[in-house]
Amino acid sequence: MEMGVAGVFALWYIFLASISSTTAATDTLGPGQYLRDNQTLVSSSQRFELGFFSPGNSGNRYLGIWYKNLPLTVVWVANRNRSIAGSSGALSVTSAGELLLRNGTELVWSSNSTSPANGAVVLQLLDSGNLVVRDGSDTSDDYVWESFDYPSDTLLPTMKLGWKLKTGLHMYLTSWKNADDPSAGDFSYSLDAPDSPQLVVRKGSDKQYRWGPWDGVRFSGSQEFRANPVFTPKFFSDTEEVYYTFIVTDKSALSRSIVTQFGLIQYLYWNNGTKEWSTTVTLQRDNCDRYGMCGPYGNCYSGDPSCRCMKGFSPKSPQSWDMLDWSGGCARKRELDCNKGDGFVKYKPLKLPDNSHLWGNSSLSSEDCRAKCLRNCSCMAYTIINVHGNGGDCVAWFGDLVDMKDFSEGGEELYIRMARSEIGKYHLPVMRSFLSLELAASSSF
Ligand SMILES: *[C@@H]1O[C@H](CO)[C@@H](O)[C@H](O)[C@H]1NC(C)=O
Ligand SMILES: *[C@@H]1O[C@H](CO)[C@@H](O)[C@H](O)[C@H]1NC(C)=O
Ligand SMILES: *[C@@H]1O[C@H](CO)[C@@H](O)[C@H](O)[C@H]1NC(C)=O
Ligand SMILES: *[C@@H]1O[C@H](CO)[C@@H](O)[C@H](O)[C@H]1NC(C)=O
Ligand SMILES: *[C@@H]1O[C@H](CO)[C@@H](O)[C@H](O)[C@H]1NC(C)=O
Ligand SMILES: *[C@@H]1O[C@H](CO)[C@@H](O)[C@H](O)[C@H]1NC(C)=O
Ligand SMILES: *[C@@H]1O[C@H](CO)[C@@H](O)[C@H](O)[C@H]1NC(C)=O
Repeated sequence: MEMGVAGVFALWYIFLASISSTTAATDTLGPGQYLRDNQTLVSSSQRFELGFFSPGNSGNRYLGIWYKNLPLTVVWVANRNRSIAGSSGALSVTSAGELLLRNGTELVWSSNSTSPANGAVVLQLLDSGNLVVRDGSDTSDDYVWESFDYPSDTLLPTMKLGWKLKTGLHMYLTSWKNADDPSAGDFSYSLDAPDSPQLVVRKGSDKQYRWGPWDGVRFSGSQEFRANPVFTPKFFSDTEEVYYTFIVTDKSALSRSIVTQFGLIQYLYWNNGTKEWSTTVTLQRDNCDRYGMCGPYGNCYSGDPSCRCMKGFSPKSPQSWDMLDWSGGCARKRELDCNKGDGFVKYKPLKLPDNSHLWGNSSLSSEDCRAKCLRNCSCMAYTIINVHGNGGDCVAWFGDLVDMKDFSEGGEELYIRMARSEIGKYHLPVMRSFLSLELAASSSF
């Protein structure tokens, strides 16, 4: 008996239906299969789930990833800017490795990735929370596409905040608009830029908060943001990648880092006793964290936040300074004269200023770093810190020094260029050469 065209289609439909009903229990989806609104993928050890959800009180549907078996906590959203009305959403992967999300009729979102395609591709939700498209026969970490490259507002352990230099891919977080709306909100959290990596929170294009550079233990100025019993922050940099990530000590623990809709950077872990997310660290601690609070050459003191000029500087506008408007900052008491020879004054540990530049790597000694900075008239400060974990790197600053904070229990020392006459004021008993001028000056009056 011959089957008609309709019969073939009927069989095909049954075939597809049987595939899609099996997808509900697995972590993979292959070409020709669909993940529909009422289906999910679940990672192999049941940690994460991919499917459609409605955030908060909205009835809109989004494709996203959340923790399985927890109150809805979304860690990634595909179509964050364009929701689907109703339950018509369906995700598929093409044989070229591209993800397509349709609302029944129209394309709502796509991954815009194409495979080198020498094998069959497969979409898989990993236990790390990474949604990957990979060559079905290749078990390496060489993915055709991965959701970790396109973060939403959440950084999961091992996820990278930073840059893939070969492709120019910039991986950064963007806040949700609000709890009902995952579309891109006001705040971004990124590692800027590859050549002077520091953590930056922006509102639109305005810098609001900043920590850095990395000193081997933490980003300068981030108080509690170093290795602790819950997680270890890591910074990595080579010619291909520059990134920040974090690793959890207890692999069974659930933890995540987010940028909230108000721009706060928080680390949370799931407290299995209270069944709640607990905040372990919020990067912003007080008003001193506000970017540029004290203006150029001002130093911020926590507690009752207040600004003081660095030693050798005085308020640019004493009137506004007296009215607690510190944003104008401080000016040198004595002008630099690069040709006659300046020197450096060493300041006690503080949060290092914005716009650092890495000069070479550990090949530069402290003396070489100082000499190099002294020779270049626009070099305003330098220090040696352990950016790459191999002893010390020469880091230099050009232009006004902004966004410093008194940080005696965890900051870094800074050598600031000062006029010869300013250094002379200190009546050093022995002056060997300008290269060796150094003074343990307090950064306060
Ligand atoms: C899922 O939705 C499809 C229609 O979109 C329907 O045919 C199917 O029966 C539903 N399956 C379950 C398990 O509800
Ligand atoms: C969402 O829209 C913003 C601009 O409003 C854009 O920068 C961002 O790339 C979009 N995100 C996605 C995932 O489409
Ligand atoms: C899909 O989206 C388009 C454009 O937003 C809309 O016109 C269409 O009705 C939607 N289709 C379904 C099935 O929801
Ligand atoms: C897809 O990627 C190509 C090449 O990377 C780019 O030219 C194109 O603009 C992208 N399309 C979308 C919709 O992002
Ligand atoms: C959390 O507690 C439940 C019992 O309430 C237990 O079954 C589960 O294994 C615990 N999970 C972790 C990660 O400790
Ligand atoms: C330091 O930099 C030089 C040249 O840029 C490079 O050849 C060398 O491998 C680097 N050393 C380290 C330890 O990164
Ligand atoms: C000072 O150093 C900066 C950064 O390396 C460089 O761009 C500038 O050309 C140097 N200026 C002089 C006069 O060497």
